[in-house]
Amino acid sequence: MKVAVVGAAGYVGGEMLRLVLQHPDVHEIVATSRSQAGKSIAESHPAMALLTDARFSADSPAEAARGKDVVFLALEHGESSKIMGSLIDSGPGMIVDLAADFRIHDGRLHEKFYGAHPAPSLVHRFQYGLADVRGAELRGAVGIAAPGCFATAAQLSLYGVADLPLAAAPAIFAVTGSSGAGQSPKPTTHHPTRAHNMFAYSAMGHRHEGEILEQWSGWRNDAAAHARLMCHSGPFVRGIHATMYLQFAEPVRDVNAHIAKRFAGRPFVRVLDAPPQLTQVVGSNFALLHAATSDDGREAQVMCVIDNLVKGAGGQALQAMNLALGLDERAGLTAPGVFPC
Ligand SMILES: NC(=O)c1ccc[n+]([C@@H]2O[C@H](COP(=O)([O-])OP(=O)(O)OC[C@H]3O[C@@H](n4cnc5c(N)ncnc54)[C@H](OP(=O)(O)O)[C@@H]3O)[C@@H](O)[C@H]2O)c1
Repeated sequence: MKVAVVGAAGYVGGEMLRLVLQHPDVHEIVATSRSQAGKSIAESHPAMALLTDARFSADSPAEAARGKDVVFLALEHGESSKIMGSLIDSGPGMIVDLAADFRIHDGRLHEKFYGAHPAPSLVHRFQYGLADVRGAELRGAVGIAAPGCFATAAQLSLYGVADLPLAAAPAIFAVTGSSGAGQSPKPTTHHPTRAHNMFAYSAMGHRHEGEILEQWSGWRNDAAAHARLMCHSGPFVRGIHATMYLQFAEPVRDVNAHIAKRFAGRPFVRVLDAPPQLTQVVGSNFALLHAATSDDGREAQVMCVIDNLVKGAGGQALQAMNLALGLDERAGLTAPGVFPC
């Protein structure tokens, strides 16, 4: 397969490169960057020196996409919409967008969280790529919108209980590492303000709630179904730890066993007997879940950990590509994480 990674100098682009360079069916890769064009990939992503001595290309997204089987876009929010028309015209076999531009199909929901869509007529071309839930449904997709990182952790938690009787909207408290904010330094990502610190942001309306609500209301078959995401910045580089609190309308005996059944046979989701820890997933495409149920079966606390750049971005995007092409879902994704980290 011939693949292009556009925006390859960023954190998500780098993770995408790390994974496609190890995919058994990928034989040609173009990695573009405007700011790093002509420079060695390993200058931006030092660990990649073991895998390639190639340089970043200055190709425009459309030039990079021409003749490719798959194009991964790892651009800042809003950039994919600007280039999507010319990208589609250049005729790649499949486009996988890792930004939020094409994740939400309901125009009003998109507008609520992101403002008016700049390319609404192109949204229908993209299937939502929540790979561990959608699985074989993605077969044949030619456009995939890879879910957001918080949205992935939240939705894997929600999907496990989507068929249970709830007395209140689930509330998900999630903490992300600093790589979630991308490579450009900002006051909230600068080391002295980030290390040894923790703070909430986007309270009562983080943007990822839009895609979460679209999927959640579908799973619940209830247009008014609600869920609340509470996002925090934590003092680590990679990973998301999410804890979801649930109240049931009638007692549920073993929520953990229920979630395990919901994900039976899914290769990258594991349901543990104890709360998972971030270091168990960092560097891997795994999501680990655990639910604790109250003695009376009226409440549960569901924990989920993922690596924001793998399961929350590049890994999930590659898994969705595998599923869309009918390849082994695990191809290129079986490397374990690193522990301790
Ligand atoms: N970080 C995460 O954990 C995470 C997880 C899931 C999804 N995402 C999403 O993935 C996308 C990338 O995130 P990131 O964290 O990797 O951000 P980042 O580190 O800031 O990288 C974004 C890259 O996009 C390139 N770029 C922007 N506009 C471009 C254009 N028009 N043409 C070509 N290249 C362009 C920039 O590189 P040049 O200036 O060199 O071209 C930059 O390196 C975002 O939409 C983000 O929301 C991020």
